Amino acid sequence: MAVLDVLTYPDPRLRIQAAPVDTVDDSIRRLVDDMAETMYTAPGIGLAAVQVNVHKRVIVIDLSDDHTDLKVFINPELTKRAGSQESEEGCLSVPGIYAAVTRAESITVRALDRNGDEFTLDANGILSVCIQHEIDHLDGKVFVDYLSRLKQQRIRKKLVKQVRRDPTPSASHAPVM
Ligand code: NI
Repeated sequence: MAVLDVLTYPDPRLRIQAAPVDTVDDSIRRLVDDMAETMYTAPGIGLAAVQVNVHKRVIVIDLSDDHTDLKVFINPELTKRAGSQESEEGCLSVPGIYAAVTRAESITVRALDRNGDEFTLDANGILSVCIQHEIDHLDGKVFVDYLSRLKQQRIRKKLVKQVRRDPTPSASHAPVM
């Protein structure tokens, strides 16, 4: 396994639309393993392949404290969404920035697992938020796109400066995904 480099907003490669996976083979499983290690090392609770500059529809999520509940979503599709919830989000590609985003409260997602078998999952709360956040990444979207233009401009300026310095630690405990 390897820790991969994570693209940082406003890198234009975060805007590339990810392509569906044709066959879930060993190369995809290796990607999943590397993405999991990258997410655990960061640390974060979710990661989309686009964030490590691989433009395929692959997501990993683990909400456990001890890295024992890895969820893999290949070619995920939301088949149902209901209600709405607002929660504070962070993103491994937007280090040190946290903001409230409104998303569907409960969702149903259909995807392939690491063996290529199809499954369906109902999710709400933070898992629902995280799945929606990661599917956005596969579509070239970042959570700051939901904020006002002024806020987006401030975040871009801050992050471009940060690349030259060390990222400033944040006091927020919002999940990073
Ligand atoms: Ni993210």
